[in-house]
Amino acid sequence: MTPKVVRTVAALRQETAKWRAEGLRYAVVPTMGALHEGHLTLVREGLKRAPKVITTIFVNPRQFAATEDLGRYPRDEAGDLAKLQGAGCDLVFAPPPEEVYPLGFATTVSVAGPAKAGLEDRFRPQFFDGVTTIVSKLFIQTGADFAMFGEKDYQQLMVVTRMARDLDLPIEVIGIPTVREADGLAMSSRNAYLSPEERKKATAIHRALSYAADHIRAGETPHAAASRAEHVLTGDGFKIDYIAARNALSLAEPATSAEPLRLLAAVWNGKTRLIDNIAV
Ligand code: PAF
Repeated sequence: MTPKVVRTVAALRQETAKWRAEGLRYAVVPTMGALHEGHLTLVREGLKRAPKVITTIFVNPRQFAATEDLGRYPRDEAGDLAKLQGAGCDLVFAPPPEEVYPLGFATTVSVAGPAKAGLEDRFRPQFFDGVTTIVSKLFIQTGADFAMFGEKDYQQLMVVTRMARDLDLPIEVIGIPTVREADGLAMSSRNAYLSPEERKKATAIHRALSYAADHIRAGETPHAAASRAEHVLTGDGFKIDYIAARNALSLAEPATSAEPLRLLAAVWNGKTRLIDNIAV
């Protein structure tokens, strides 16, 4: 069955109240639409934890800078609904901007810690305040028991987890491993921007991260291994925003290779900015 679509918070709460009355738990999958297998995996993982799943579709203007791709961000609601039906999603919350940010809206939810790690925040200073403001609203609006996030946006996952904990939000944030194409490229809505040539070249990002991770496991310092990956990708013609090895939980610079580590990258492939990360 096609999932029911609601566009107001009041209609959303009417639906979730019915589930609660039946004693049902439910998960939320926050998205900006242009859904791919990565998002559908989050829906399926949600359904493993709860009998109902809500997917939210909202291209959140507050997490885009004026110079970024808000206008050209891919939108395909009909296609998204067909995919969500296939994945077993029950309800879609797709509000218009004025429902989310009515006239006079004046609140920003701002997190420090992992949101100020000098990674995405260094290159997209507006990004995490936009994300945490919308995600906190979505958590409160849906009242979900579980929130499903992909590890692909690893810093976002750490920031949202921190926020939910710090604000005592009664929701469990669950990170799900990145879904990759057969050649290793992390699935992303932004892959749609790549020319066939750029698409082929993009596989180098995951290869370079894996190569650096192997070097850390073989005893190289995290910093030297990250520089090695940077050297490879620069040679391939990518413009690098960052390639960094960080503590996997705090995202702080690691003091030793014995800590749990995560290698994270943001690079430009032509005019498209791609991010990826792997565990070491
Ligand atoms: O990861 C995304 O698609 C967005 O940042 C999110 C979590 C839906 C908030 O707009």
